[in-house]
Amino acid sequence: MINKHYLYILSSAVILLSGCEAQGDYPGLEYAPQMYHSVPYEPLTQITDREDGEWLSSLDDNVGEFYNSNPNNAYAMNVRIPAANTIRRNTDRYSAGGHFETNPELVLPYNIPADSLDYASRVLKNPLAATEDVVGQGQVLYATFCYPCHGGNGLGDGPVGKVYKGVPAFNAGRYKEMTEGHIFHVITYGQGRMNPYASQVSIEDRWKIVEYVQTLQNQ
Ligand code: HEC
Repeated sequence: MINKHYLYILSSAVILLSGCEAQGDYPGLEYAPQMYHSVPYEPLTQITDREDGEWLSSLDDNVGEFYNSNPNNAYAMNVRIPAANTIRRNTDRYSAGGHFETNPELVLPYNIPADSLDYASRVLKNPLAATEDVVGQGQVLYATFCYPCHGGNGLGDGPVGKVYKGVPAFNAGRYKEMTEGHIFHVITYGQGRMNPYASQVSIEDRWKIVEYVQTLQNQ
């Protein structure tokens, strides 16, 4: 009895699904094709909808339902190649400051290895000046990345820190004496139970956070 029921459900499903077919030039079984095919230009699709593979030069051509190539760009591409001699504004990910980066210390990769915390503590100097602007941006970044554990005043009492436990206070013991290089290195590689932030926070933004953490050490 049970087996017969399954057979019935299965055959109805097959009949139902075989009714779904894309109407473009590339037919196949597709359920709700409008959910897969974008109406706005998709950066990475180049559906020409033509069997001869020729690029279309204008939208007046007979294009299929899911045509998604850009007739205004070369090779019908949706994304454009940057103009010659274009320079990325920050080679080390996006910067909260949003300004064009000219200081090589903020752009070159950080190459002090993870196991050299003492060395980093001694030699690294913050290339940014502690202006009100920089400290303010550091505070915003701190609120995003560090506050959950370290808390608003850097006492280790953030909402996550209370549960995570063992988050130090920046204004006590050896933490009060941490150099700027030490803090930068810890943000970059993590330390003990703290995870690294290098993949999420650019070098420039890490230095801004350092400026703000220093104000918390001295409160
Ligand atoms: C998920 C929780 C968490 C987040 C988020 C976090 N930390 Fe930590 N942090 C810790 C813990 C736990 C320790 C103690 C690590 C240990 O010694 O095991 C620590 C230690 C530190 C130390 C001291 C390192 C040392 O020398 O012992 C510094 C500096 C620090 N964090 C800075 C930051 C900064 C800046 C951010 C934001 C970019 C941040 N942390 C984000 C949990 C966190």
